[in-house]
Amino acid sequence: MIRLQKYLAMCGVDSRRACEKIIQEGRVKVNGDVIIEMGHKVSSDDYITLDDKEIVAVLDKKYYVMNKPRYYLSTVKDPKGRKTIMDLLDDDIKKYRLFPVGRLDYDTKGVLLLTNDGDFMNMLVGPRSHTEKEYLVRVKGIVRKEDILKLSRGTIINVQGEKVKTRPCKAYLDSIDRINNSSLIGIIIEEGKYHQVKEMLKSIGYETIRLSRIRFGRITLEGLKEGEIRELSIHEVKSLIGDAKSKSQEI
Ligand code: URA
Repeated sequence: MIRLQKYLAMCGVDSRRACEKIIQEGRVKVNGDVIIEMGHKVSSDDYITLDDKEIVAVLDKKYYVMNKPRYYLSTVKDPKGRKTIMDLLDDDIKKYRLFPVGRLDYDTKGVLLLTNDGDFMNMLVGPRSHTEKEYLVRVKGIVRKEDILKLSRGTIINVQGEKVKTRPCKAYLDSIDRINNSSLIGIIIEEGKYHQVKEMLKSIGYETIRLSRIRFGRITLEGLKEGEIRELSIHEVKSLIGDAKSKSQEI
């Protein structure tokens, strides 16, 4: 028997603290009775519901890659009711209570990993993570070679009101469109600061028109149409974990 809030957290409903709040709000029933006291103990034999929907213990760890389309939020829920990536999942996948590994902006498309394994997520997106993320960014104007050099050396960007220096990264000029006066730049970063790519481009004087993430570690969009997802193979999961670990030892 374990405490209700711990059970809910183990089932992936939310953090233990957030589950306490959910219980206090009277949203959880055990065998049909609303339970609001924290000490209540339950087991997997109890019929537990949240907002009248059954809570199923999800013990399987799951790992997916999605080709996120533009104009979807990469969050589980949106209080304003906008479309989220969860709207793209079938019910038989939703039952695993997946969450995104990091974020892509509303108007960014491309590789987004999904999992229900919090340790995996922390390994790949925490401040100590050094997993490579590759982006293609179309900017207004004709980019010069020296600008690419500036990007690769790291620039000073604005992160939620604070000035932050980005780490050195790889950048390349993919192509120039003189007719439409724009350039396509590739950039490979290991960090994941808020709006990092757009802010890096802005810091050297370019406005982002479109942004897509084409790679996360070794995972690409190969075989995935926009909005589609596929489960990662064990080999792919192990390679992501292995790369994240070996990178953190290099530092
Ligand atoms: N950098 C950005 O600016 N936006 C993203 O969505 C991802 C990286």
